[in-house]
Amino acid sequence: MTRKQFLEEKLKEALKLLGLPDKIFELHLLDDRAITRLNHQYLGRPYPTNVIAFSFWEGKRPPGTPYLGEIFISVETARREAREYSLPRKAYLLALAVHGLLHLLGYDHERGLQAPYRMARKEAELLEKLLGKRHKAIVNFVKRREYMPAKLAVNVDHVATVREARKVHYPDPIHAAVLAELGGAHGIVVHLRGDRRHIQERDVRLLREIVKTKLILEMAPTEEMIAFALSVKPDQVTLVPERRMEITTEGGMAVKGRVKKVRTVVERLKEGGIPKVSIFINPDPAQLKSAAKTGADVVELHTGHYAEAGASEELESELARLEEAARVARDLGFEVHAGHGLSYENIGPVAAIPEIEEFSIGHAIIARAIMVGMSEAVREMLTLIEKARG
Ligand code: PXP
Repeated sequence: MTRKQFLEEKLKEALKLLGLPDKIFELHLLDDRAITRLNHQYLGRPYPTNVIAFSFWEGKRPPGTPYLGEIFISVETARREAREYSLPRKAYLLALAVHGLLHLLGYDHERGLQAPYRMARKEAELLEKLLGKRHKAIVNFVKRREYMPAKLAVNVDHVATVREARKVHYPDPIHAAVLAELGGAHGIVVHLRGDRRHIQERDVRLLREIVKTKLILEMAPTEEMIAFALSVKPDQVTLVPERRMEITTEGGMAVKGRVKKVRTVVERLKEGGIPKVSIFINPDPAQLKSAAKTGADVVELHTGHYAEAGASEELESELARLEEAARVARDLGFEVHAGHGLSYENIGPVAAIPEIEEFSIGHAIIARAIMVGMSEAVREMLTLIEKARG
């Protein structure tokens, strides 16, 4: 039996399990070039993907018709991903085929906040029945995707803001970082600004020694900061634009039209031994596509406009922008983070976006820590993030 016949047989079995034994589909196994052509032409995404499904019908499927549509799988991408996730290749191909089939049946992980969870649950259920115990790994993989946990990186700048208000040696952001880690933080963030209004160089150097999780340095792409970052070597640098008079970072980096400049900075940081470089960016597909040419590993989506949105319509539209940007960024191969202005009140809907792997939160956590203590403030935020994912 060929690989294609195996997949077709299993998909027919899946349709039987779904109570739809008469439905008809077509399956095509392609290479990356062929799937890129389809992805570009029909979905406007000029890069390869693992699976695409097209209904035979424009709009709603006529009731009673047995014809569902076509499923296209790139065997090359599937092979690469199976290797990356350490999964059996044939079972992973089947997982992609089942994903495509569910799309044809009207499941769409790209529509609505709960949709990805519903779709992944159905996929896991079908794969369990189709593969039995033989391929527990793939079923667990799909289930894990369903409940992908998100990380929380805590920004301790504002502990230093209080210290600098009196130009004394307390409170110390180093203490805050240790307590944040004890509360469950997955990373510590500091922004060393050109004017040194809060974090000082001494803070970053000491944090480099003390932080057990990972140290993230936010900085403007200036010569002074590049030299400093290369001497400290944080685990990640996040490039942010900086304006002298702003109270806090006001917008994402403009990458469009400046790709070469930004790429040079990213290259210098990475060649200097900094493992990950992130770009703080507005949730704008055009900016993301430019960022994809810079060699950055991560994009942090700017959630400030969402956080500031007043009326519910504005809020919905900002949330939709973040959802779309997260999907585009993920498709472009970025690890997706988000941050700015996130609080205990507004974190829920953003934390439910499955593509976002990490949140960077400062002001709200430090403000709450004044009342309830640092570790407790971090734990409370983590609970809200976990609740939104489940
Ligand atoms: N992400 C970036 C890139 C930032 O510049 C900041 C603010 O320093 C944050 C996240 C955290 O924002 P907030 O303090 O509003 O949580």
